[in-house]
Amino acid sequence: MCLNWIIWWLKTFISDSVSPSPSPFKKSLVGHPSLSDFIPTIRSGAWADIGFRSRMEDAYVCVDNFAQDFGLENTSGGPNAFYGVFDGHGGKHAADFAGCHLLRFILEDEEFPQEIERVISSAYLRTDAAFAKACSLDADLASGTTALTVIIMGRLLVVANTGDCRAVLCRQGKAIEMSTDHKPMHARERRRIEASGGCISSDGYLNGELNVARALGDWHLEGLKIMCENIELGPLIAEPELVSANLTEDDEFLIIGCDGIWEVFLSQNAVDFARRRLQEHNDPSLCSKELVDEALKRKSSDNLSAVIICFQQHRPQNLISPPSRARRRFSAQGLMDLQSLLDSSGGEQ
Ligand SMILES: *[C@@H]1O[C@H](CO)[C@@H](O)[C@H](O)[C@H]1NC(C)=O
Ligand SMILES: *[C@@H]1O[C@H](CO)[C@@H](O)[C@H](O)[C@H]1NC(C)=O
Ligand SMILES: *[C@@H]1O[C@H](CO)[C@@H](O)[C@H](O)[C@H]1NC(C)=O
Repeated sequence: MCLNWIIWWLKTFISDSVSPSPSPFKKSLVGHPSLSDFIPTIRSGAWADIGFRSRMEDAYVCVDNFAQDFGLENTSGGPNAFYGVFDGHGGKHAADFAGCHLLRFILEDEEFPQEIERVISSAYLRTDAAFAKACSLDADLASGTTALTVIIMGRLLVVANTGDCRAVLCRQGKAIEMSTDHKPMHARERRRIEASGGCISSDGYLNGELNVARALGDWHLEGLKIMCENIELGPLIAEPELVSANLTEDDEFLIIGCDGIWEVFLSQNAVDFARRRLQEHNDPSLCSKELVDEALKRKSSDNLSAVIICFQQHRPQNLISPPSRARRRFSAQGLMDLQSLLDSSGGEQ
């Protein structure tokens, strides 16, 4: 009798507290089929601040309508937008160069817009090769940069990331990370680095020199970018990781920011902060400034930049109850563990 009650209680407890195992998108997030005719309305804002350091090496790019800006046909039946944050190191030239050229390489590719993911990856590599060439002509350009870019065509969102900037989507108040921070210590990056002959120093730096596992540029640093027949062998690579999603009515806004933002904000924390501000004034420019100012207040030591992209005209709605998906869910593993615990405890029933 008592045991039954305990089982009931434990089941309830487990189903409430053990969150469903996160099933992060492999390469794609599948939206609600019933909402698939949703077309986002885009508004964006950006802010950058020099932080407590002496030079600003970050750059960002906001293009709300590239079809118009580049005189292209609007084939997406919705917005055609491009955003990027570029966190430079060792000088600002690589960040500026990537900010200027990446979108152009994407749009000039003859496979655009069909093979969009392949086109974006190839644009990263072409930008990196073009920068290597520019540096070979002018050694003063030598520098490196991370590059996180977002392309929105109709309801399709594609995030590409090289380095440790981060993109976080707000879906009905819930933070969904759309990129992985490429730190040298990250298990998969570490394996890749070690397999390609690089090493990670005890302070977590790649070859003792860089705090990122992927970057554009840095051609001047010995032993980081080894090329063989036009293929980058690493250990430092420019190749981005891509994550795509079809936006739905549940998707409210996206934050992209350089690592200085994420030094002092957890992803959910930044989403909560931005969402509250957008509920107040519904202004993505002001909101990105407030996010950067708050990061400064929290003593982020880095150069800071952030872009906020809203997908709806109206301000985020009040969340009355948690999204139904997140409510009670049985965790199969939790129940099996409980069962075996009870079995082994002798089951005096
Ligand atoms: C920010 O600026 C500083 C100094 O100006 C520079 O050394 C640094 O590489 C820049 N970027 C980052 C990510 O710190
Ligand atoms: C593209 O076309 C669609 C409909 O044909 C229109 O609703 C949308 O506003 C256009 N997008 C841009 C950025 O002009
Ligand atoms: C988006 O939806 C289309 C069908 O409308 C589908 O073919 C595509 O795979 C989806 N993409 C993602 C990233 O979910």
